[in-house]
Amino acid sequence: MKIAMIGTGYVGLVSGACFSDFGHDVICVDKDISKITALENGIMPIYEPGLEELVLRNVAAGRLSFTTEIEAVKGAAAIFIAVGTPSRRGDGHADLRYVFAAAEEIAANLDGPAVVVDKSTVPVGTGDEVERIMREKAPNLDIAVVSNPEFLREGAAIDDFKRPDRIVIGSEDERANDVMREVYRPLFLNKSPLLFTGRRTAELIKYAANAFLATKITFINEMADLCEKVGANVQDVSRGMGSDNRIGSKFLHAGPGYGGSCFPKDTLALIKTAQDYNSPMQIVESVVQVNDKRKRAMGRKVIEAMGGDVRGKKIAMLGLTFKPNTDDMRDAPSIAIVQALEDAGAQICAYDPEGMKEAAHIMATVDMKQNAYETAQSADALVIVTEWDIFRALDMRRILTSMKGNIMVDLRNIYDDHDMREIGFSYTSVGR
Ligand code: UDX
Repeated sequence: MKIAMIGTGYVGLVSGACFSDFGHDVICVDKDISKITALENGIMPIYEPGLEELVLRNVAAGRLSFTTEIEAVKGAAAIFIAVGTPSRRGDGHADLRYVFAAAEEIAANLDGPAVVVDKSTVPVGTGDEVERIMREKAPNLDIAVVSNPEFLREGAAIDDFKRPDRIVIGSEDERANDVMREVYRPLFLNKSPLLFTGRRTAELIKYAANAFLATKITFINEMADLCEKVGANVQDVSRGMGSDNRIGSKFLHAGPGYGGSCFPKDTLALIKTAQDYNSPMQIVESVVQVNDKRKRAMGRKVIEAMGGDVRGKKIAMLGLTFKPNTDDMRDAPSIAIVQALEDAGAQICAYDPEGMKEAAHIMATVDMKQNAYETAQSADALVIVTEWDIFRALDMRRILTSMKGNIMVDLRNIYDDHDMREIGFSYTSVGR
Protein backbone atom coordinates (compact mmCIF):
# COMPACT_ATOMS: atom_id res chain seq x y z
CA MET A 1 0.00 0.00 0.00
CA LYS A 2 1.33 3.44 -0.89
CA ILE A 3 1.26 5.95 1.96
CA ALA A 4 2.25 9.63 1.85
CA MET A 5 3.23 11.38 5.07
CA ILE A 6 3.15 15.18 5.06
CA GLY A 7 5.56 16.55 7.67
CA THR A 8 8.76 14.87 8.86
CA GLY A 9 8.68 16.17 12.42
CA TYR A 10 8.54 13.89 15.37
CA VAL A 11 5.21 12.26 14.62
CA GLY A 12 5.51 12.17 10.83
CA LEU A 13 8.97 10.69 10.75
CA VAL A 14 8.35 8.04 13.40
CA SER A 15 4.98 7.09 11.88
CA GLY A 16 6.33 7.03 8.32
CA ALA A 17 9.31 4.89 9.30
CA CYS A 18 7.11 2.47 11.27
CA PHE A 19 4.56 2.14 8.44
CA SER A 20 7.39 1.32 6.03
CA ASP A 21 8.67 -1.26 8.49
CA PHE A 22 5.23 -2.92 8.30
CA GLY A 23 5.89 -3.34 4.58
CA HIS A 24 4.00 -0.31 3.24
CA ASP A 25 5.56 1.89 0.58
CA VAL A 26 6.01 5.27 2.30
CA ILE A 27 7.00 8.64 0.94
CA CYS A 28 7.65 11.41 3.49
CA VAL A 29 7.14 14.97 2.28
CA ASP A 30 8.50 18.09 3.94
CA LYS A 31 9.00 21.66 2.73
CA ASP A 32 12.23 21.98 4.70
CA ILE A 33 14.83 21.14 2.09
CA SER A 34 17.68 20.91 4.60
CA LYS A 35 15.72 18.34 6.61
CA ILE A 36 14.96 16.25 3.52
CA THR A 37 18.56 16.44 2.31
CA ALA A 38 19.77 15.38 5.77
CA LEU A 39 17.31 12.48 5.87
CA GLU A 40 18.38 11.38 2.40
CA ASN A 41 21.90 11.27 3.80
CA GLY A 42 20.79 9.23 6.79
CA ILE A 43 20.95 12.12 9.29
CA MET A 44 18.01 12.27 11.72
CA PRO A 45 16.56 15.70 12.63
CA ILE A 46 15.72 14.51 16.16
CA TYR A 47 17.14 12.11 18.69
CA GLU A 48 14.83 9.15 19.23
CA PRO A 49 16.13 5.73 20.29
CA GLY A 50 16.01 3.22 17.40
CA LEU A 51 14.86 5.74 14.79
CA GLU A 52 18.05 6.02 12.78
CA GLU A 53 18.40 2.27 12.41
CA LEU A 54 14.71 1.94 11.46
CA VAL A 55 14.95 4.68 8.82
CA LEU A 56 18.20 3.41 7.30
CA ARG A 57 16.91 -0.16 7.13
CA ASN A 58 13.70 0.79 5.34
CA VAL A 59 15.38 3.25 2.99
CA ALA A 60 17.82 0.48 2.04
CA ALA A 61 14.90 -1.87 1.44
CA GLY A 62 13.34 0.69 -0.91
CA ARG A 63 10.17 1.11 1.17
CA LEU A 64 10.88 4.58 2.58
CA SER A 65 11.87 7.75 0.74
CA PHE A 66 11.89 11.51 1.26
CA THR A 67 10.97 14.43 -0.94
CA THR A 68 10.08 18.12 -0.89
CA GLU A 69 7.62 17.59 -3.77
CA ILE A 70 3.98 17.55 -2.70
CA GLU A 71 3.11 15.89 -6.04
CA ALA A 72 4.25 12.71 -4.29
CA VAL A 73 0.71 12.39 -2.85
CA LYS A 74 -0.53 11.24 -6.25
CA GLY A 75 -1.59 7.62 -6.16
CA ALA A 76 -1.27 7.22 -2.38
CA ALA A 77 -4.05 5.17 -0.80
CA ALA A 78 -3.71 7.14 2.43
CA ILE A 79 -2.23 10.61 2.87
CA PHE A 80 -1.33 11.52 6.44
CA ILE A 81 -1.09 15.09 7.65
CA ALA A 82 1.50 15.20 10.45
CA VAL A 83 2.52 18.85 10.55
CA GLY A 84 3.02 21.01 13.64
CA THR A 85 0.13 22.60 15.56
CA PRO A 86 1.98 24.94 17.93
CA SER A 87 0.19 27.11 20.51
CA ARG A 88 -1.01 30.32 18.91
CA ARG A 89 0.65 33.31 20.51
CA GLY A 90 -1.65 35.10 22.92
CA ASP A 91 -4.61 32.77 23.40
CA GLY A 92 -3.18 29.24 23.54
CA HIS A 93 -5.43 28.02 20.72
CA ALA A 94 -3.73 25.51 18.41
CA ASP A 95 -2.30 27.27 15.37
CA LEU A 96 -3.77 25.35 12.44
CA ARG A 97 -2.23 27.21 9.55
CA TYR A 98 0.14 24.37 8.62
CA VAL A 99 -2.68 21.81 8.69
CA PHE A 100 -4.88 23.93 6.44
CA ALA A 101 -2.00 24.73 4.07
CA ALA A 102 -1.23 21.00 3.80
CA ALA A 103 -4.91 20.27 3.06
CA GLU A 104 -4.95 22.83 0.25
CA GLU A 105 -1.73 21.58 -1.28
CA ILE A 106 -2.80 17.95 -1.12
CA ALA A 107 -6.12 18.77 -2.77
CA ALA A 108 -4.37 20.71 -5.52
CA ASN A 109 -2.17 17.72 -6.34
CA LEU A 110 -4.62 14.82 -6.18
CA ASP A 111 -5.76 13.10 -9.35
CA GLY A 112 -8.12 10.50 -7.95
CA PRO A 113 -10.07 9.47 -4.86
CA ALA A 114 -8.15 9.75 -1.59
CA VAL A 115 -8.27 9.16 2.12
CA VAL A 116 -6.67 12.04 3.99
CA VAL A 117 -5.76 11.22 7.57
CA ASP A 118 -5.12 13.86 10.15
CA LYS A 119 -2.46 12.73 12.63
CA SER A 120 -1.57 16.20 13.89
CA THR A 121 -3.18 17.04 17.24
CA VAL A 122 -6.03 19.35 16.30
CA PRO A 123 -9.05 20.83 18.07
CA VAL A 124 -12.51 19.36 17.60
CA GLY A 125 -13.99 20.31 14.26
CA THR A 126 -10.67 20.68 12.42
CA GLY A 127 -11.47 17.61 10.31
CA ASP A 128 -14.67 19.34 9.14
CA GLU A 129 -12.66 22.38 8.10
CA VAL A 130 -10.00 20.26 6.36
CA GLU A 131 -12.79 18.51 4.44
CA ARG A 132 -14.35 21.84 3.47
CA ILE A 133 -11.02 23.21 2.22
CA MET A 134 -10.33 20.11 0.17
CA ARG A 135 -13.78 19.95 -1.39
CA GLU A 136 -13.51 23.60 -2.35
CA LYS A 137 -10.13 23.04 -3.98
CA ALA A 138 -11.00 19.73 -5.65
CA PRO A 139 -14.81 19.64 -5.99
CA ASN A 140 -14.84 16.70 -8.37
CA LEU A 141 -12.74 14.31 -6.31
CA ASP A 142 -13.95 11.77 -3.81
CA ILE A 143 -12.04 12.70 -0.65
CA ALA A 144 -12.62 11.26 2.83
CA VAL A 145 -11.05 12.95 5.85
CA VAL A 146 -10.19 10.78 8.85
CA SER A 147 -8.88 11.63 12.32
CA ASN A 148 -6.21 9.26 13.63
CA PRO A 149 -4.52 10.84 16.67
CA GLU A 150 -1.09 9.70 17.80
CA PHE A 151 -0.21 8.65 21.35
CA LEU A 152 3.57 8.45 21.01
CA ARG A 153 5.81 9.25 23.94
CA GLU A 154 9.11 10.79 23.03
CA GLY A 155 11.92 8.39 23.86
CA ALA A 156 9.61 5.41 23.44
CA ALA A 157 7.86 6.45 20.24
CA ILE A 158 8.73 3.43 18.09
CA ASP A 159 7.61 0.98 20.71
CA ASP A 160 4.43 2.99 21.30
CA PHE A 161 3.74 2.95 17.57
CA LYS A 162 4.32 -0.77 17.16
CA ARG A 163 2.64 -1.86 20.39
CA PRO A 164 -0.15 0.66 20.92
CA ASP A 165 -2.71 0.38 23.72
CA ARG A 166 -5.26 1.35 21.07
CA ILE A 167 -5.56 2.90 17.63
CA VAL A 168 -8.27 5.54 17.38
CA ILE A 169 -9.88 6.05 13.98
CA GLY A 170 -12.46 8.78 13.59
CA SER A 171 -14.41 8.73 10.36
CA GLU A 172 -17.94 8.68 9.05
CA ASP A 173 -16.91 6.97 5.81
CA GLU A 174 -16.91 3.17 5.48
CA ARG A 175 -14.52 3.17 2.52
CA ALA A 176 -12.05 5.21 4.54
CA ASN A 177 -12.42 2.81 7.45
CA ASP A 178 -11.48 -0.07 5.13
CA VAL A 179 -8.36 1.81 4.02
CA MET A 180 -7.43 2.46 7.66
CA ARG A 181 -7.93 -1.23 8.51
CA GLU A 182 -5.48 -2.05 5.72
CA VAL A 183 -2.98 0.61 6.90
CA TYR A 184 -2.97 -0.83 10.41
CA ARG A 185 -3.49 -4.47 9.44
CA PRO A 186 -0.10 -5.63 10.80
CA LEU A 187 -1.01 -4.22 14.22
CA PHE A 188 -4.54 -5.50 14.03
CA LEU A 189 -3.15 -9.00 13.50
CA ASN A 190 -1.13 -8.36 16.65
CA LYS A 191 -4.41 -7.75 18.48
CA SER A 192 -3.94 -4.02 19.03
CA PRO A 193 -7.49 -2.74 19.46
CA LEU A 194 -8.82 -0.48 16.73
CA LEU A 195 -11.40 1.93 18.08
CA PHE A 196 -13.65 3.27 15.34
CA THR A 197 -15.56 6.37 16.27
CA GLY A 198 -16.89 9.64 14.89
CA ARG A 199 -14.31 12.13 13.65
CA ARG A 200 -15.04 14.79 16.26
CA THR A 201 -14.92 12.17 19.01
CA ALA A 202 -11.49 10.97 17.82
CA GLU A 203 -10.19 14.53 17.86
CA LEU A 204 -11.41 14.97 21.41
CA ILE A 205 -10.05 11.62 22.65
CA LYS A 206 -6.50 12.84 22.08
CA TYR A 207 -7.02 15.95 24.20
CA ALA A 208 -8.95 14.06 26.86
CA ALA A 209 -6.13 11.53 27.23
CA ASN A 210 -3.36 14.11 27.44
CA ALA A 211 -5.28 16.40 29.79
CA PHE A 212 -6.07 13.46 32.05
CA LEU A 213 -2.43 12.34 32.19
CA ALA A 214 -1.33 15.92 32.91
CA THR A 215 -3.93 16.01 35.71
CA LYS A 216 -2.64 12.74 37.16
CA ILE A 217 0.92 14.07 37.28
CA THR A 218 -0.15 17.38 38.74
CA PHE A 219 -2.26 15.63 41.35
CA ILE A 220 0.69 13.59 42.60
CA ASN A 221 2.94 16.66 42.51
CA GLU A 222 0.59 18.54 44.85
CA MET A 223 0.35 15.42 46.98
CA ALA A 224 4.16 15.43 47.16
CA ASP A 225 4.11 18.98 48.56
CA LEU A 226 1.64 17.88 51.22
CA CYS A 227 3.78 14.81 52.00
CA GLU A 228 6.72 17.11 52.70
CA LYS A 229 4.61 19.17 55.11
CA VAL A 230 3.12 16.24 57.02
CA GLY A 231 6.11 13.90 56.99
CA ALA A 232 4.74 11.32 54.55
CA ASN A 233 6.41 9.61 51.57
CA VAL A 234 4.89 10.33 48.15
CA GLN A 235 6.42 7.25 46.52
CA ASP A 236 4.56 5.06 48.99
CA VAL A 237 1.41 7.12 48.48
CA SER A 238 1.78 6.51 44.71
CA ARG A 239 2.25 2.81 45.28
CA GLY A 240 -0.68 2.66 47.66
CA MET A 241 -2.95 4.56 45.27
CA GLY A 242 -1.66 3.09 42.04
CA SER A 243 -2.12 -0.53 43.02
CA ASP A 244 -5.85 0.16 42.92
CA ASN A 245 -6.69 -1.06 39.39
CA ARG A 246 -9.16 1.73 38.93
CA ILE A 247 -6.33 4.26 39.35
CA GLY A 248 -3.26 2.50 37.91
CA SER A 249 0.34 3.09 38.88
CA LYS A 250 1.58 4.92 35.76
CA PHE A 251 2.05 8.70 35.63
CA LEU A 252 2.11 8.97 39.41
CA HIS A 253 5.79 9.93 39.71
CA ALA A 254 6.20 13.23 41.50
CA GLY A 255 8.75 15.55 39.98
CA PRO A 256 9.44 19.11 38.83
CA GLY A 257 6.28 19.36 36.70
CA TYR A 258 5.43 18.13 33.22
CA GLY A 259 6.92 19.68 30.10
CA GLY A 260 7.40 18.66 26.49
CA SER A 261 5.75 19.27 23.19
CA CYS A 262 2.34 17.84 24.04
CA PHE A 263 0.96 18.27 27.54
CA PRO A 264 1.56 22.04 27.87
CA LYS A 265 0.25 22.80 24.38
CA ASP A 266 -2.67 20.37 24.38
CA THR A 267 -4.00 21.35 27.81
CA LEU A 268 -4.03 25.02 26.71
CA ALA A 269 -5.77 24.19 23.45
CA LEU A 270 -8.41 22.09 25.25
CA ILE A 271 -9.11 24.92 27.67
CA LYS A 272 -9.53 27.30 24.76
CA THR A 273 -11.89 24.96 22.88
CA ALA A 274 -13.94 24.40 26.05
CA GLN A 275 -14.24 28.15 26.59
CA ASP A 276 -15.27 28.68 22.97
CA TYR A 277 -18.08 26.17 23.42
CA ASN A 278 -19.05 27.70 26.76
CA SER A 279 -18.21 24.50 28.59
CA PRO A 280 -15.19 25.49 30.70
CA MET A 281 -12.83 22.80 31.98
CA GLN A 282 -11.91 24.15 35.38
CA ILE A 283 -9.93 21.10 36.45
CA VAL A 284 -7.63 21.39 33.44
CA GLU A 285 -7.34 25.15 33.97
CA SER A 286 -6.09 24.50 37.52
CA VAL A 287 -3.70 21.82 36.30
CA VAL A 288 -2.06 24.27 33.91
CA GLN A 289 -1.71 26.93 36.60
CA VAL A 290 -0.37 24.55 39.23
CA ASN A 291 2.15 23.06 36.81
CA ASP A 292 3.40 26.47 35.62
CA LYS A 293 3.97 27.65 39.19
CA ARG A 294 5.64 24.41 40.11
CA LYS A 295 8.49 24.73 37.62
CA ARG A 296 9.69 27.99 39.08
CA ALA A 297 8.99 26.77 42.60
CA MET A 298 11.60 24.06 41.98
CA GLY A 299 14.18 26.83 41.64
CA ARG A 300 13.10 28.15 45.05
CA LYS A 301 13.32 24.63 46.46
CA VAL A 302 17.00 24.52 45.45
CA ILE A 303 17.60 27.97 46.96
CA GLU A 304 16.00 26.87 50.23
CA ALA A 305 18.09 23.70 50.30
CA MET A 306 21.14 25.95 49.98
CA GLY A 307 20.17 28.03 52.99
CA GLY A 308 18.27 30.79 51.20
CA ASP A 309 21.13 32.58 49.47
CA VAL A 310 22.75 31.37 46.26
CA ARG A 311 24.46 34.57 45.14
CA GLY A 312 27.86 33.66 43.68
CA LYS A 313 27.25 29.94 44.30
CA LYS A 314 27.96 27.33 41.66
CA ILE A 315 25.11 24.92 40.97
CA ALA A 316 25.59 21.77 38.90
CA MET A 317 22.52 20.52 37.04
CA LEU A 318 22.20 16.98 35.72
CA GLY A 319 19.64 16.71 32.92
CA LEU A 320 18.03 19.53 30.98
CA THR A 321 15.52 17.89 28.61
CA PHE A 322 11.88 17.63 29.75
CA LYS A 323 12.33 13.86 30.13
CA PRO A 324 15.02 11.27 29.36
CA ASN A 325 15.78 9.75 25.93
CA THR A 326 15.01 12.86 23.94
CA ASP A 327 16.83 16.03 22.95
CA ASP A 328 13.58 17.99 23.25
CA MET A 329 13.77 21.10 25.43
CA ARG A 330 10.25 22.38 24.80
CA ASP A 331 8.69 23.61 28.05
CA ALA A 332 11.33 21.71 30.03
CA PRO A 333 11.19 22.45 33.78
CA SER A 334 14.96 23.08 33.61
CA ILE A 335 14.31 26.37 31.79
CA ALA A 336 12.32 27.89 34.67
CA ILE A 337 14.71 26.41 37.24
CA VAL A 338 17.80 27.89 35.57
CA GLN A 339 16.01 31.23 35.27
CA ALA A 340 15.02 31.28 38.96
CA LEU A 341 18.54 30.33 40.09
CA GLU A 342 20.27 32.82 37.82
CA ASP A 343 17.86 35.56 38.92
CA ALA A 344 18.98 34.81 42.48
CA GLY A 345 22.63 35.25 41.46
CA ALA A 346 23.84 31.64 41.04
CA GLN A 347 26.13 30.35 38.30
CA ILE A 348 24.89 27.23 36.57
CA CYS A 349 26.81 24.47 34.86
CA ALA A 350 25.02 21.49 33.38
CA TYR A 351 25.26 18.22 31.54
CA ASP A 352 22.62 16.44 29.49
CA PRO A 353 23.36 13.38 27.33
CA GLU A 354 21.37 14.61 24.29
CA GLY A 355 19.84 18.01 25.08
CA MET A 356 22.79 20.39 25.35
CA LYS A 357 22.76 21.54 21.74
CA GLU A 358 19.08 22.51 21.98
CA ALA A 359 19.53 23.88 25.49
CA ALA A 360 22.41 26.13 24.47
CA HIS A 361 20.02 28.22 22.34
CA ILE A 362 17.70 28.77 25.29
CA MET A 363 20.16 29.11 28.19
CA ALA A 364 23.21 30.78 26.72
CA THR A 365 24.72 31.62 30.13
CA VAL A 366 24.82 28.02 31.34
CA ASP A 367 28.25 26.40 31.21
CA MET A 368 27.76 23.06 29.42
CA LYS A 369 30.03 20.19 30.54
CA GLN A 370 31.06 16.84 29.10
CA ASN A 371 29.74 14.47 31.76
CA ALA A 372 28.20 14.29 35.23
CA TYR A 373 31.53 14.15 37.07
CA GLU A 374 32.96 17.19 35.34
CA THR A 375 29.72 19.07 36.03
CA ALA A 376 29.83 18.37 39.76
CA GLN A 377 33.46 19.49 40.10
CA SER A 378 33.76 22.27 42.74
CA ALA A 379 29.99 22.87 42.74
CA ASP A 380 28.21 24.05 45.88
CA ALA A 381 25.14 21.99 45.02
CA LEU A 382 24.09 19.22 42.67
CA VAL A 383 20.58 19.19 41.22
CA ILE A 384 19.10 16.22 39.34
CA VAL A 385 16.50 17.59 36.94
CA THR A 386 16.00 14.77 34.41
CA GLU A 387 16.16 11.06 35.24
CA TRP A 388 18.46 9.83 32.45
CA ASP A 389 19.57 6.23 33.16
CA ILE A 390 23.25 7.22 33.29
CA PHE A 391 22.47 9.43 36.31
CA ARG A 392 20.92 6.56 38.25
CA ALA A 393 24.12 4.80 39.23
CA LEU A 394 26.75 7.53 39.55
CA ASP A 395 29.69 7.09 41.90
CA MET A 396 28.27 9.51 44.45
CA ARG A 397 31.28 9.31 46.77
CA ARG A 398 33.49 10.44 43.90
CA ILE A 399 31.02 13.24 43.07
CA LEU A 400 30.85 14.46 46.68
CA THR A 401 34.64 14.45 47.04
CA SER A 402 34.99 16.64 43.95
CA MET A 403 32.31 19.12 45.05
CA LYS A 404 32.86 22.21 47.14
CA GLY A 405 29.57 21.85 49.02
CA ASN A 406 27.51 18.80 49.96
CA ILE A 407 24.01 19.78 48.89
CA MET A 408 22.04 17.55 46.58
CA VAL A 409 18.53 18.20 45.32
CA ASP A 410 17.04 15.20 43.58
CA LEU A 411 13.94 16.42 41.73
CA ARG A 412 13.21 12.94 40.31
CA ASN A 413 13.64 10.85 43.47
CA ILE A 414 16.16 8.54 41.80
CA TYR A 415 18.40 8.17 44.87
CA ASP A 416 17.69 6.79 48.29
CA ASP A 417 17.78 9.48 50.94
CA HIS A 418 19.26 7.20 53.59
CA ASP A 419 22.14 6.20 51.25
CA MET A 420 22.85 9.78 50.25
CA ARG A 421 22.94 11.00 53.85
CA GLU A 422 25.26 8.16 54.79
CA ILE A 423 27.67 9.22 52.04
CA GLY A 424 27.61 12.74 53.45
CA PHE A 425 25.17 14.65 51.27
CA SER A 426 22.67 17.11 52.62
CA TYR A 427 19.95 15.51 50.52
CA THR A 428 16.54 16.89 49.50
CA SER A 429 14.07 15.17 47.18
CA VAL A 430 10.43 15.56 46.19
CA GLY A 431 7.67 14.54 48.59
CA ARG A 432 9.80 12.32 50.78
C1 UDX B 1 2.95 12.66 25.89
C2 UDX B 1 1.93 11.51 25.94
O1 UDX B 1 2.36 10.54 26.90
C3 UDX B 1 1.77 10.90 24.57
O2 UDX B 1 0.79 9.87 24.60
C4 UDX B 1 1.32 12.02 23.65
O3 UDX B 1 0.92 11.62 22.43
C5 UDX B 1 2.41 13.10 23.59
O4 UDX B 1 2.58 13.60 24.91
P1 UDX B 1 5.60 12.92 25.94
O5 UDX B 1 5.34 14.38 25.98
O6 UDX B 1 6.61 12.40 24.99
O7 UDX B 1 4.24 12.13 25.61
O8 UDX B 1 6.08 12.48 27.37
P2 UDX B 1 5.50 11.75 28.67
O9 UDX B 1 6.27 10.52 28.90
O10 UDX B 1 4.05 11.60 28.61
O11 UDX B 1 5.92 12.80 29.79
C6 UDX B 1 5.42 14.13 29.78
C7 UDX B 1 5.94 14.90 30.95
O12 UDX B 1 5.38 14.44 32.17
C8 UDX B 1 7.46 14.84 31.16
O13 UDX B 1 7.92 16.13 31.52
C9 UDX B 1 7.62 13.86 32.30
O14 UDX B 1 8.81 14.08 33.05
C10 UDX B 1 6.38 14.17 33.12
N1 UDX B 1 5.95 13.06 33.96
C11 UDX B 1 5.46 11.91 33.39
C12 UDX B 1 6.01 13.17 35.35
O15 UDX B 1 6.47 14.19 35.89
N2 UDX B 1 5.56 12.13 36.11
C13 UDX B 1 5.05 11.00 35.57
O16 UDX B 1 4.65 10.11 36.35
C14 UDX B 1 5.02 10.87 34.17
